[in-house]
Amino acid sequence: MPRCDRTDAWLALARHFESSGRTFNLREAFVHDAGRFESLSVEAPEVFIDLSKNLIDAQTLRLLLELASECGLEAQREAMFEGVAINTTEDRAVLHTALRAPRGMAPFSADVHRTLDAMLSFAETVRDTAASGIRHVVNIGIGGSDLGPQMVLPALDAFVHPGLQFHFVSNVDGHDITAALRRLKASETLFVIASKTFTTQETMANANLARAWFTAQGGTDIARHFVAATTNVDAAAAFGIRTTFGFWDWVGGRYSLWSSIGLPIALAIGADHFRALLAGAHRMDRHFAEEPLVSNAPALLGLLDVWYRNFHGFSSRSVAPYHQGLRRLPAYLQQLEMESNGKRVDRNGDALSFATSPGVWGEPGTNGQHAYFQMLHQGTDVIPVEFILVKRPTFAARGLSAGLTEQLERQHTLLLANGLAQSQALMLGKSSGEALRDRRPPTASNTLDADTLARHRTFPGNRPSTTLLLDRLTPTSLGALIALYEHRVFTSGALWGINSFDQWGVELGKAMCNDLLPRLAPTGAGGAGLDGSTAGLIGRLRA
Ligand code: F6P
Repeated sequence: MPRCDRTDAWLALARHFESSGRTFNLREAFVHDAGRFESLSVEAPEVFIDLSKNLIDAQTLRLLLELASECGLEAQREAMFEGVAINTTEDRAVLHTALRAPRGMAPFSADVHRTLDAMLSFAETVRDTAASGIRHVVNIGIGGSDLGPQMVLPALDAFVHPGLQFHFVSNVDGHDITAALRRLKASETLFVIASKTFTTQETMANANLARAWFTAQGGTDIARHFVAATTNVDAAAAFGIRTTFGFWDWVGGRYSLWSSIGLPIALAIGADHFRALLAGAHRMDRHFAEEPLVSNAPALLGLLDVWYRNFHGFSSRSVAPYHQGLRRLPAYLQQLEMESNGKRVDRNGDALSFATSPGVWGEPGTNGQHAYFQMLHQGTDVIPVEFILVKRPTFAARGLSAGLTEQLERQHTLLLANGLAQSQALMLGKSSGEALRDRRPPTASNTLDADTLARHRTFPGNRPSTTLLLDRLTPTSLGALIALYEHRVFTSGALWGINSFDQWGVELGKAMCNDLLPRLAPTGAGGAGLDGSTAGLIGRLRA
């Protein structure tokens, strides 16, 4: 497949950017095209996407679609769904989509459904808390073995078993596990040791500590209180775990919440809702696999990412979920996108001459508005923002009076108005003339002349944003939303010609840590032979 920078469309996009892309004006675009919202919005399963507040026009889209075609996006997509080993540096297929396909509809279906059935039936026995005696579940895992379940649980809070409490321990920093354990009783606790490899240093350290704590608390039945989700079933058995739910090397860590890594999700929301989560993701898979690219939501988002990263040169994207339940989504997306596409060589190992993954960051709205939105509106960098709005709330509160429910619903409308207002303000901005005509704010300095004050209160506008709109946050819609992001990351990675499914960049630090660890011991070699900074810091740490 030709790499994006070696295509005719790439050159045409560069020319298009110089001739009109750089100076594209959103306010004018809406004035000239009354149908802009309709023509630049797309309906995907469970998610409506408004792309119209982006710096694109019909010509940009046409050229981006040409780029997709020249880069063989559709063929690459098929190769993934069919199980070709597209993760070439590890010689692995990439088949997280098979985890959510109905029985018989994807590779490895028999294995997938056998494991899924076993995991869900186990989850149901634990959820029968009167019989199981379990009140707390502690997931010990990191990266992809933590971020998915940790993101999904608050998002689906309204569906979570009221008698179970969930704790996530990921950091090797002992402050993480001690904060979780101090509230727990061994007899009421189930530990899920989640690790694709079952060798990850942080997870193994925490798992060993949890086992020691369990025994010290008088816990006797390790086999009943520890379960594992891993591809390394032997290592889990060697740890003393008898109940293990396996998965396969063709499931990447950051794509694994659909596998047995999703056990805490199944424990929390139950088998039927877990199946609904899978079904929502599968609907988005079919959309990505079958919808023509011109109306294919993940493909369009991925193409937009290429346009912004490689032509506008925007180096980050901010995600603003206007739903408190999605508060961990930005962290989840950081791993999904930055570990997948943070690469500097193509599939052949040749250096890239263009930029890849943007930084992805964010906080739920409205909180972010009172923190960093100042920079989004008036800072020197343009940062595209992705707003996620959920039309109807799913409050978990029980037994509320009609009056309080009504008040909460009004509050939800206030939330939605905030999200809309931010995308509107980013786009429209405020000219210095408009700022001059404003009433002088009571907080403004009296010694400042009107022109100077207006310059401080001017907003450049023309700052792009995308709005994703969900009807309700349910297992089905959340599944679809996550799969949308997965395929969007696939799309930009496919165009860039990189391997989005390996993560060699995390190796060097791990190896160096293993070298430094013995040096920190009182009898160790200290900083001898190391660079001055590391040696100096080791000296201080050992003093
Ligand atoms: O950080 C690197 C990484 O390999 C991630 O890709 C992965 O999700 C995480 O570590 C955890 O790995 P494991 O599930 O094998 O413990």
